[in-house]
Amino acid sequence: MSKFIKNLITPNDLSLDQLNDLISLAQDIVKNPELFFKSAEGKVLASLFYEPSTRTKFSFDTAMLRLGGSVIGFSDPSTSSTAKGETIADSAKTVSQYADIIVVRHPKEGTALLMSKHADCPVINAGDGGHQHPTQTLTDLLTINSCLGRLENLTVGVCGDLMFGRTIHSLVTCMSRFSNINFVFISPKELTMPEYVKETVTKNGKTYVETNNLEKAIPKLDILYMSRVQRERFVSEEEYMRLKDYFVLTSEKMSLAKKDMIVMHPLPRVNEIAVEVDSDPRAKYFEQVKYGMYVRMALILKMLELK
Ligand code: NCD
Repeated sequence: MSKFIKNLITPNDLSLDQLNDLISLAQDIVKNPELFFKSAEGKVLASLFYEPSTRTKFSFDTAMLRLGGSVIGFSDPSTSSTAKGETIADSAKTVSQYADIIVVRHPKEGTALLMSKHADCPVINAGDGGHQHPTQTLTDLLTINSCLGRLENLTVGVCGDLMFGRTIHSLVTCMSRFSNINFVFISPKELTMPEYVKETVTKNGKTYVETNNLEKAIPKLDILYMSRVQRERFVSEEEYMRLKDYFVLTSEKMSLAKKDMIVMHPLPRVNEIAVEVDSDPRAKYFEQVKYGMYVRMALILKMLELK
């Protein structure tokens, strides 16, 4: 059994020391990726995507390939035995006979946890419904540390669909463990932050304010984390259509922000950041994509206890 962590289901599975170790290993990989090209030779990663993905799947797959390992899996569950009625538990047990590590994304909350209870190898949650997305948080932390040089003393604004945005739930619960972090939760009143996230922030001794006014909030922020309204989690299409363009970050709004604020987004973007903002040096969302691959390389090395 791994001495690091066996499974990664939520960012809280990692202690602060483990988080810092991961970020620092990822930064070593960024500097000298070629030193790690053979580190996972002979190992196999299974990526099981029961829900659409571009970045997370490619990011894990490329991370494993760049470490010299191999990848199996699917991105369309209709091509797997799930279509024949196989349970998640049996799929986990079976795939873990082939693979050394499993990465799973599923529309249902709790699926990664369930898989981890049945698999004979480590399991990483790559997004479970509207719940958590821990490796996006690792990506975000590496981006913040690389761009701002710190993970403490920050005012963090998260904006958009705070109710269903799993990347936001993971980031906020995780960052509330670092020193001197203040949060600004910016959302329409229909899409406010779940109580359990707010309770965690308070329990960790941090403060938050809630607002639906991006222009008023933006001047105070060190980080503005934008997110898409999560169409697939809405019961009513009409409600989605009404809320989808509630916030659009434009160059005009960026002119109200600090000169060194950074803009992040887990992507995919729909309409919430105008394309004109992409050329602003404070826009970090495409850089963030690259950091995602490096931090996943670090995570695979640590979870498989490879050098
Ligand atoms: C996010 C997700 O899947 O939760 N995407 C990602 O992994 N980078 C965000 C989203 O889909 O809006």
